[in-house]
Amino acid sequence: MQSSPHTSSTHHGPMLPGGRPVIGHLPRMRKDPLSTLLATSRLGDVARLNMGPRGHAYLVGHPDGVKRVLLDAYTNYSKQTRGFNTLRVFLGRGLLTSEGSFWRKQRRIAQPAFHHAKIQRFAKVMVRAAEDLAQRWVERARRNETFDVADDMMQLTLRIVGECLFSTDPSDESSVIGPQVDVLLDRFITRITAPVPIPLNWPLAGNRKVRHAIRVMHEFTDEIIDERRRNGPTEHGDLLDMLMSARDEETGEGMSPRQLRDEVLTLLVAGHETTAAALGWTWTLLSRHPEIDERLGADLAGLTTPTIEPDDLQRVPLIRQVIQESMRLYPPAWIFARKAVETDEVCGVTIPAGHLVIVSPYVTHRRPEIFHDPERFLPERFEPESAFSRYSYFPFGAGPRICIGNGFAMMEAQLALAVLRRRVKLRLTPEANVTPNPLLTLRFREGLPVRATETHANPRRTSQGY
Ligand code: HEM
Repeated sequence: MQSSPHTSSTHHGPMLPGGRPVIGHLPRMRKDPLSTLLATSRLGDVARLNMGPRGHAYLVGHPDGVKRVLLDAYTNYSKQTRGFNTLRVFLGRGLLTSEGSFWRKQRRIAQPAFHHAKIQRFAKVMVRAAEDLAQRWVERARRNETFDVADDMMQLTLRIVGECLFSTDPSDESSVIGPQVDVLLDRFITRITAPVPIPLNWPLAGNRKVRHAIRVMHEFTDEIIDERRRNGPTEHGDLLDMLMSARDEETGEGMSPRQLRDEVLTLLVAGHETTAAALGWTWTLLSRHPEIDERLGADLAGLTTPTIEPDDLQRVPLIRQVIQESMRLYPPAWIFARKAVETDEVCGVTIPAGHLVIVSPYVTHRRPEIFHDPERFLPERFEPESAFSRYSYFPFGAGPRICIGNGFAMMEAQLALAVLRRRVKLRLTPEANVTPNPLLTLRFREGLPVRATETHANPRRTSQGY
């Protein structure tokens, strides 16, 4: 491989001290991955962890190194890792897990469906779902009820992605797939932290649950796809319609039913827990910084339209800044891993072929030379004139494998926050113990218990005369 800009001398990079014989830093990584990664990143731009029988992992923290792995030499960093292999078992060969020419073709076909102009049409679905939830929160505020906002964000984003994908609400109590998505998310961590990979055909209770979840989700999506194929072109205007009618510009080919199914399941899973985590952390930070929360409330009170529309978001830039700063401190995709195909050199460190390479927005987003006072929640960092490089701030990844849903997610998170915050403000209850729980995404160990207070800034209320 060609070398990166930092090449000076070839060496293996500093190793985090304190590794135990045979198992290395595995127990420490399992117990507290966030602080282990932070401690490793303080040793150098690329530093090592001993992952026991799995060999060494190279944590690439410097933005130049991130650029090398995610852009300049991205084909050298494959997704043949335990995490992606597990996702492959769950989701098949969708955009998130596939590679090479197959991935390139799928991405080419799917990309137009996520074009800015196309996703604008989903704003209505997002606003409607958030308004329904806002109404429930107002009722809870009146009853002074405590509720878990982390759960509500999961339900909200599942409903939104389901309705935008295939015009069905999977968060509805009668939905067969909502609970199965939960099973897969739950089993993901058990599988990737097991000492050895667990083949899916082993007769274990966990495997049976996973097989059942996959079967139910396959049946559900196959049925929808079959029905739409039988009935010819439909006018749901959802992502599935777009994916079914999309053709590869180079070859004129569309997706087979099997590919469609894998893509639909990928979008369902990739597109809801991440946004739910981003919103959960945003509510947490707003509750902990009431002065910023009050400013946001006042800015939203200035909007006079009865229903929030995407254009309104430009008039309240603090919404975007709050979400961006929340994803800086608590990026939902807190880590993504690759395997080096050939030996490469990153920031002067030699990464041997076959080793694990870790990129972590959680770590890079805390580099003090880029983000002064990095632990502080300062949404004004994201004022328009202060642009960060896309390898210093990358909650959606970077390079060719950047999140295809990033425009969708940003619109969804901003609309949801605007609609909900206009009606209520939330405060964590005194007994709330908010600790990050780094699973597939960065979630919350004990949920987010909150109480809501109704605001008086909602034009719908005045227009309805109460
Ligand atoms: C705040 C919300 C979200 C965050 C933080 C996020 C983050 C990411 C990241 C970091 C990656 C790159 C992973 C890697 O390089 O290994 C990614 C990929 C992906 N995301 Fe998202 N995502 C979000 C929302 C969504 C939504 C709403 C959708 C779809 C509706 C989606 C679909 C995907 C897909 C399909 C990929 C794979 C893209 C490819 O490799 O071609 N994501 N996401």
